Amino acid sequence: MSAPSTRQRCASCGYETLDTDAHTRCPRCQGLLELHHPEAPDTGPALRKLFDGRLSVRTGPHASGVWRFSEIVLPAASGNIVSYPEGNTPLLDRAAVSEWAGVSGLMLKHEGLNPTGSFKDRGMTVGVTQARRVGATAVACASTGNTGASLAAYAALAGLPALVIVPQGQVAVGKLAQALAYGARTLVVRANFDRCLELADEASEKLGVYLLNSINPFRLEGQKTIVLELLQQLGWEPPDWILVPAGNLGNTAAFGKALSEARRWGLIGRVPRLGAVQAVGAAPFSAGFREGFVRRHRVEPHTLATAINIGNPASWDRAVRAIRETDGVVTDVSDDEILEAKAVVDASGVGCEPASAASVAGARRLVREGVIRLGERVVAVLTGHVLKDPAAVTSYHVETEPAPARANRPVEIEPRLEAVATALRMPHGSRP
Ligand code: F0G
Repeated sequence: MSAPSTRQRCASCGYETLDTDAHTRCPRCQGLLELHHPEAPDTGPALRKLFDGRLSVRTGPHASGVWRFSEIVLPAASGNIVSYPEGNTPLLDRAAVSEWAGVSGLMLKHEGLNPTGSFKDRGMTVGVTQARRVGATAVACASTGNTGASLAAYAALAGLPALVIVPQGQVAVGKLAQALAYGARTLVVRANFDRCLELADEASEKLGVYLLNSINPFRLEGQKTIVLELLQQLGWEPPDWILVPAGNLGNTAAFGKALSEARRWGLIGRVPRLGAVQAVGAAPFSAGFREGFVRRHRVEPHTLATAINIGNPASWDRAVRAIRETDGVVTDVSDDEILEAKAVVDASGVGCEPASAASVAGARRLVREGVIRLGERVVAVLTGHVLKDPAAVTSYHVETEPAPARANRPVEIEPRLEAVATALRMPHGSRP
């Protein structure tokens, strides 16, 4: 008898298929597919021990912070794995950030320290591995920038042609630069991200390219490891909250799945609450949460956190389930709150891109509203690196008038020592 294998199941109609089926949506009803793994050979302490035993591995797939958890990510992948390696990101504790947010137990899971500078690499290693398993001849995605950068890099690793579809004028320069540098065919579309995603979806169906947006369930299996890894870093003692910036809702969905599986397999004894944080100008999920998710919302998005400038999130239904199953909340924060949070995270020496700071701004918001209580342990996920969006940094520190409270103005001087001395005595942030 052969061992039971991972199956793909449609979340809408229940259709089941093998994990080697190359469709990225349900072939019967076009619904979203979800992976169901066979029971891991071990559970509880034995499974924890298996994963912990791999922490000292330095070569091969188990050195990756994704494939260390292969039994609950994609057990049948061995032999095809395309890994940088990725993951193994730090869980940080910075007093200045905790103080600003008003919660002493705040920790930062810095996913910007992945190989291409965002959490997307965790999903992409699994997605491109799967592309190889199903014999894909090309891979594609629509992106606000980070998915495209990651896809381009992993496609290059696998020797596959890549197609990246981005909205014109709405992608940070570091991300666009990466897609070009890693060699992806990059299409700049005169439309927003939501339209780009429709186009990518159509192209995958009609042109036969393998779609690697987060509607692809294999992406989510990789992104689950953000949660698995942070739980492992905490000695499998769960925090009270996990906060995550929310755009297309892939991460929110992946986190919910990770937590319910971790509980089912005995990795943890209780489930932390999820907090999904949107930008006010792109907050359809937050609007849905306020009315109990009775209907799906769609908005025309406008936020300077371009990574989450999304009006019609693809993983809506599975993210609703994640919020419900974890007794979670959804909130939204203004662009000014995001920029202030980013300035605090940056000045602590950690650094992140604007969308990432939404999780920290969300922490402060939820503390002020009394939702997060004093003494609770909170992990805020920083999703992308500070260098992804240098224009956001110079706009805040150099160009914005009047100067924001935390602006760190550069000082232009004549090449004389007295000018250096004068600059040293100036209050921080002022101009000569
Ligand atoms: N933070 C960053 C830095 C992102 O790049 C994204 C999504 C998110 C948060 C939101 O995550 O979509 O799972 O809710 N970026 C996608 C992209 C859309 O194309 O790079 P989500």
